[in-house]
Amino acid sequence: MPDLRSAPHASAVAIDNVWWRSAAIYQLYVRSFADSDGDGIGDLTGVRTRLSYLADLGIDAIWFNPWYPSPMSDAGYDISDYRDIEPAFGTLADADALIAEAHDLGIRIIIDVVPNHGSDRHPWFRAALATAPGSAERDRFWFRPGRGPDGALPPNGWQSIFGGPAWTRVTEPDGSAGEWYLHLFAPEQPDYNWSNPEVRAEFDDVLRFWFDRGADGIRIDSAALLAKDAALPEIGPDAPPGPHHPYSDRDDVHEIYRRWRAVADEYGGRVLIGEIWIPDAVRLARYVGPGELHTVFNFPYLSCPWDAAELRAVIDNTLALNAPAAAPATWVLSNHDVDRIVSRLGRADTAFDLQRRSYFHSLPVDLALGTRRARAAALLTMALPGSVYIYQGEELGLWEVQDIPPGLRQDPIWRRSNGADPGRDGSRVPLPWAGQAAPFGFSPAEGCGRPWLPQPARWRELTVEAQAGGAGSMLNLYRAALHIRRSEPALGDGSMTWLAAADGVLAFDRGARVRCAVNLSRRPAPLPDNAGLLVASGPLDGGLLPPDCAVWLRSPL
Ligand code: GLC
Repeated sequence: MPDLRSAPHASAVAIDNVWWRSAAIYQLYVRSFADSDGDGIGDLTGVRTRLSYLADLGIDAIWFNPWYPSPMSDAGYDISDYRDIEPAFGTLADADALIAEAHDLGIRIIIDVVPNHGSDRHPWFRAALATAPGSAERDRFWFRPGRGPDGALPPNGWQSIFGGPAWTRVTEPDGSAGEWYLHLFAPEQPDYNWSNPEVRAEFDDVLRFWFDRGADGIRIDSAALLAKDAALPEIGPDAPPGPHHPYSDRDDVHEIYRRWRAVADEYGGRVLIGEIWIPDAVRLARYVGPGELHTVFNFPYLSCPWDAAELRAVIDNTLALNAPAAAPATWVLSNHDVDRIVSRLGRADTAFDLQRRSYFHSLPVDLALGTRRARAAALLTMALPGSVYIYQGEELGLWEVQDIPPGLRQDPIWRRSNGADPGRDGSRVPLPWAGQAAPFGFSPAEGCGRPWLPQPARWRELTVEAQAGGAGSMLNLYRAALHIRRSEPALGDGSMTWLAAADGVLAFDRGARVRCAVNLSRRPAPLPDNAGLLVASGPLDGGLLPPDCAVWLRSPL
């Protein structure tokens, strides 16, 4: 592996420029990864001490959820300074050291940039509040007078994605009730006005700041929402994203990403990854058009039920839509916004939909079934052509913690929906590393602050320590698969060929040497022809592939 340390631009170009086409990317949620100082909150020193764990796991890159100074109204997605590190996580020097150490281990670093909105404590927003309506400072956001004779009604009826109105009224510097500002998420997250040139220039500079420090990629938060119709027209609740929507997936958002791509292209081998939740796959593919983003997250795959025909359709669609731009597909089973995969696949309804979380949480979970399927899903996912994301704890088989006491819940979605939506805390519980009782090595020793969310006692069975030696553990399945994936040139980027298979079975070749089969039916199925087993998600039944089991095979000669 070449030395990746903050290479000057010219030599950075010389390194493997397309690493991201095949990468296995570990999503690291700093707050919940490892706490070095015992305050119950994960930090960068905690990450540094565990980098060898990640290197052994066999990942190629880490995506860090936002690590910047933040009042934490939305777990760091409310940024008050884009060029520093949240004090609870460490310092900029810690980040520099971490980037250098990761690069020494051959691990690239992807950071999360949140361009749609900032924090209400960001100096720009403070300046906007301190100035009068119509000021240049206010024009960086969406300030508007209210409706009605005394402006007491919000400028329009838009609703926040987190529940409640998308507008909050401010008090003017002279103490009077004043204008309203737009926040598509929480009130603490005011939306930027991307038609303002200062906003555009600021983010060019933020990208360069982190590229110069050695970041290898940027995950772009809420990437479809930046461009807005300045007339702020009303929208129906079911208005589809697209050119006629006032803020979701508008055509003019693409100008922004062409500009970002030009910045990324000043450097070598840097990747732009869009977080884009839009249902229309054809429009999604436009983001990876020429001169725009390198990849986008595959949310149709993440939302797809455990069903052979539906998965096959999503896979085919993904590959077909990425093909014209020659963009690699991405494959994602879970992240910090959705239910953990073990729980999802252990329910009678195995789909996922952000709008219907409370319905999914009302269904019983069969953890044994969910774990068996999650193991098979992991092999399927890691065999598909393109790059793959692993959300921290997925490799340990953690489940969604659905019984967090209300008083400990932190997610604004839970608060703003008055508990109607359980929110995302259940997927963000700190990792169990070792030992028999909480904090399971997440924090250093007894007597420290409690982890910021409580860990289930049964996670003693799922600690890294408990799983390290167990040949059949989830951790060892991930390790084995990631190491094979890295050593087999046919895996990662490339093409795939479906094989004929029994009903409910997915089978495909990756090149001439690797074959994957997954049984999603209820009965054992014959294994495809093969010249040996590379890895299996569970015990095979003689020559048969049991239900909810997957294998990677050596192709017959
Ligand atoms: C993205 C993030 C989510 C955050 C939201 C607002 O969807 O993944 O965690 O709450 O944006 O920034």
